Amino acid sequence: MADLIPFDDRDGVIWFDGEMVPWRDAKLHVLSHALHYASCVFEGERAYSGRIFKLSEHTERLFDSAAQLDMEIPFTPAQIDAACNELIKRQDIVDGYVRPVAWRGSEMMGVSAQVAKTHVAIATWPWPNLFGDDRLDSGIRMKTSKWRRPAPNTAPVKAKAAGLYMICTLSRHSVEPEGYDDALMLDWRGQVAESTGANIFLVIKGVIHTPTPDCFLDGITRRTVMDLARKRGHEVIERVIMPEDLGDADEVFLTGTAAEVTPVGEIDEHNYQVGPITRQLMDDYEAAVRMGD
Ligand SMILES: Cc1ncc(COP(=O)(O)O)c(C=O)c1O
Repeated sequence: MADLIPFDDRDGVIWFDGEMVPWRDAKLHVLSHALHYASCVFEGERAYSGRIFKLSEHTERLFDSAAQLDMEIPFTPAQIDAACNELIKRQDIVDGYVRPVAWRGSEMMGVSAQVAKTHVAIATWPWPNLFGDDRLDSGIRMKTSKWRRPAPNTAPVKAKAAGLYMICTLSRHSVEPEGYDDALMLDWRGQVAESTGANIFLVIKGVIHTPTPDCFLDGITRRTVMDLARKRGHEVIERVIMPEDLGDADEVFLTGTAAEVTPVGEIDEHNYQVGPITRQLMDDYEAAVRMGD
């Protein structure tokens, strides 16, 4: 970890409330509502060959997430799109990650925050494969977390909201010391939901199955990969998937902006091959992101 460059100590600029500010000066006050009460939503985008893939869908989700937290973003979606595009040019990002974030400021310091101002920042940085190249050959190792995705009436489960990642961090911390790459999260009913930062698919006897996204993000990559699979003539079924069904799968893979299409080699006692359908969708996804939307 010694060669890690902290994210607050880098060169370049960050778009902050409409201005390009020097990277190290993009700061907020310790008495910010977001820090104390998790009033924060964000996006994760990737640029490929100098273009942000599905940018307008990500921006739309940022606004939807904010609305679910009762926050109003003081910019238009077109302004946020333009800021993301301008920023990757300024930062010379050809292939990299883009992180817009919106949070409540300091006008109110209590649970209510009706008049707290919403701020927006965007940062970008180079980011290669999420789990490392060797995992693309062998598949990642996963273990089921003890933490479960909450029910829709206990949290705004469709928002990409910072607060929902608390259990994801705890899940990763519980499995990584044992050598696992990621955790599988069940939902509050005990159904298979997703990983800590990506959606999950199972290939069972040549048919692709994925959990119905009724309490977690219906990922932009998930929808893209479902389209790609159907274009190849594969049947894709959204349904309830129970942990017992994991034993029926021949192939398992994750999808997400950061994860792209990542093969899974192991979940708990089950082992999977990095099979032909996964490989085809990895290639098709790579071709799609390079072509743009
Ligand atoms: C918890 C979680 N689920 C699913 C996804 C996949 O979403 P997308 O494909 O839109 O990146 C992500 C990544 O944003 C995530 O963090």
